Order: sequence, then C-alpha cells, then structure tokens
Amino acid sequence: MRVLLVGSGGREHALAWSISKSPKLTKLYASPGSDAISEFAEIVSGDRPDVDLVIIGPEVPLAEGLADQLRGEGILVFGPNKDAARLESSKSFAKEFMVRHQIPTARSKTVNSLQEGKAALAEFTNGVVVKADGLAAGKGVIVCATREEAEAALTAKPAECLVLEEYLEGPEVSLLGLCDGKRFLALPTSSDHKRLLDGDRGPNTGGMGVIAPAPAWNEAMRARVESEIIQPTLLGLAKDGLDYRGLLYIGLMLTPEGPKVLEYNCRFGDPETQAVLPLLQSDLLQALAAAAGGDLSGEELRASGCAVTVVLASEGYPSKPISGRLISGLDLEELVFHAGTRNNGDHWITNGGRVLGVTGLGETHAQARERAYHAANKINFDGRQMRSDIGAALPTPA
Ligand SMILES: Nc1ncnc2c1ncn2[C@@H]1O[C@H](COP(=O)(O)OP(=O)(O)OP(=O)(O)O)[C@@H](O)[C@H]1O
Ligand SMILES: [Mg+2]
Repeated sequence: MRVLLVGSGGREHALAWSISKSPKLTKLYASPGSDAISEFAEIVSGDRPDVDLVIIGPEVPLAEGLADQLRGEGILVFGPNKDAARLESSKSFAKEFMVRHQIPTARSKTVNSLQEGKAALAEFTNGVVVKADGLAAGKGVIVCATREEAEAALTAKPAECLVLEEYLEGPEVSLLGLCDGKRFLALPTSSDHKRLLDGDRGPNTGGMGVIAPAPAWNEAMRARVESEIIQPTLLGLAKDGLDYRGLLYIGLMLTPEGPKVLEYNCRFGDPETQAVLPLLQSDLLQALAAAAGGDLSGEELRASGCAVTVVLASEGYPSKPISGRLISGLDLEELVFHAGTRNNGDHWITNGGRVLGVTGLGETHAQARERAYHAANKINFDGRQMRSDIGAALPTPA
C-alpha cells in the first residue's frame, strides 16, 4: 500500500513510526512532514503522489475540507469530511449534537454577544467554562472559578460565538478510536497533563505528558461509556447522515454522576498518540485503511502494557516559545517523537513550543514512568521545560 501522511508534528512522527512497521506498507510519503519524519517517509510538496490511502493528521485541513476534496477524486482517506469534522471545529455544533442524541455532557449555553454572555452567567453558579466556538489550537478554553473571572473571559472575546458550560469535576480520560461510520474500534485510553507545571499548576498547554492506559479507567467504566456514550454517538452520526471515517477522539470527564463528554476531536490527540501507539501489537495501517474503506468489522486492535510520555518544551512555552537551541543527548535507541525540531545537517535544533515527547514503556505505569524519565533526563537544550510528575499521581492500587 502506498500511503501519504499529512502533517508535521509529534503525532505524525508517531504515526509514521507505527505505520512504517506494517508489512502492508510499500511506500510512505509525508507532506509537509519534518526532518524527523523523513527517517520513515519521503517528504513531498506540490503535486500529490499517486497513493492508495491518505491519512490526515491535523484538524485544520479536516475542518477546511481536505478529506472531501480527496474523496471527490476517488482516493481512500482516513479523516472525516468537513461536515463531520464540525464535531471538533464548532463547539456549539458538538453541543447540539450531544443534546439531540442524549449523550451525557456538561449543561451549556451558546451566546453571541457580551450582553448575552453576562446574562447567561446567572445560570452557572458552580463555576463556568468559557469556550470559543471555533478551532483555537488549544487556546480557546478558560476555566473560571469566580464570576469576576468569567466576566473577564467574556470581555476578552466580546464579538465571538462562545459556549458557556457548567464546570465539571473528576478524572479526565481521552478515549481515541477508529471509526468507519458505523463502528468504533478503541485504542488504549490515556490521560494528558495539560498544565505547564508540576502539581497541575501554571497555564494550560497543548499537553506536557501522558499516561496510558488512563489510571481511572476500568472494565465497568468501559462498559458504561460503551452504552451511554459510544453507541449513542454512532447512532447520532448515522441519524444525522454523517459518514465518519477517521479518528474519533472522545474527551471524557468521569464525574460522580457518571461519564460525560467534554469534547470531541476529529483526529489523533497530540501528545496522547505518542503514548498510545507504542502499546499496539496489531497492524495500525491495516486498521486505518479498513476504517477509511468503511468496514472495520474484521479488525481488532490488540494492545498491552503501560506507557508514559514526557514532553520536553522550549523556554517561554506556551506563550512565547524560543526556537533555535541545540539539542544534546538524543539517543536513537529511545522512543523519542519529534514535535518541534529541525536538523541542520549535523545537529537537531529546537523548532517550536513542544519539542520532543519521550515515551517509556513497561508492564506497570511505574516502570514506564521510570524509563521515560531515564531517557528524558539524557536529553537537554537551553531553557528546556519538563514536568517531573507525569504519571506520578496514581491512585493507590486497591
Ligand atoms: N465543563 C468543563 N468542566 C471542567 N473542565 C473543563 C470543562 N470543559 C473543558 N474543561 C477543561 O479544559 C480542557 C480543554 O477543554 P476542551 O477539550 O473543550 O478544549 P479544546 O481546546 O478543544 O482542547 P483540545 O486541544 O484537547 O482539543 C479540558 O481538557 C478540561 O481540562
Ligand atoms: Mg478539542
């Protein structure tokens, strides 16, 4: 199978690494790709090479309709069409979808002006979350503990369509699965660490580390999420005429009242993918192609073990990341995914906010965590930021 992978980040590096192990792969191209991805793929720009499958990594091309365009040309695509990608690209659309199909989620109200927003705050007394409707590269959500914070958040975005949501509490779990329009084939769960600093302090980021499977996950919760969330989501897609072929990312909050959907994303999560894909024993490419072809019925995704991914970020990240620093200690034996690097011919150089994701694997979370940090501590660059507590706050085993 000849495959084109669209994207250039840590997620796509992990996808390229995983796909390149498939005996089904005859040739991998990447666009725009990266120096790290070029280890596995031929980088192409301009004319699209003749391929059997296109895998679209990031949300922006999906929201812009790249999948529709390619399908229109008769090409097999992993990634939803523009209308289905609205589950991610419009929070108000996703909320209406969940309400229409009785999928448990935080109570919410969509507002279109500052005045409307301020009036709606009275309906949210236990904390409110203010979300920009459209794609915001992880910067569109403000969790507000007080009314003053909420008013400030609204005032900062006076003219935008915003979703106000009740504040929920509980462990967060990212559930990623391949979807063929009718079925959902789950990957191992994971939990991201969004805050910059140890102890979940500091500003929100694109993700500073991941633990997989999610420690809060168990068989009882899986069964509940299957019947209360996955099945109604699949039925809802069918009822609404959305032929969803791609990765469906369900962001869950396990509240005391039960699991609720925080968000849908229409692509693999980053950095979650860097922790989850190394746990797979099955051929990922085969399953991606089956989802793209609309028939996952014969597929399975076997996985085992635990993973911890530690992100190494640039000085100044997330607000003003500084690039151009020399990276030392990159040992190719380790499982290191490149999110923001370039190679100048002799050396790897930082090139973005999140630079590297270092994944450790083990039979237990503790073992995976120790291996991830052992490897991460060998890698350095000026101003490197790294949390030291990824996967540390594990619940005490029963
Ligand atoms: N109703 C809520 N109650 C409490 N926290 C919330 C709520 N909604 C969102 N959050 C927090 O804010 C984070 C980001 O929210 P959300 O996932 O909707 O935004 P996003 O910008 O689409 O994120 P991503 O970059 O992961 O796609 C969540 O991971 C969660 O930690
Ligand atoms: Mg999102």
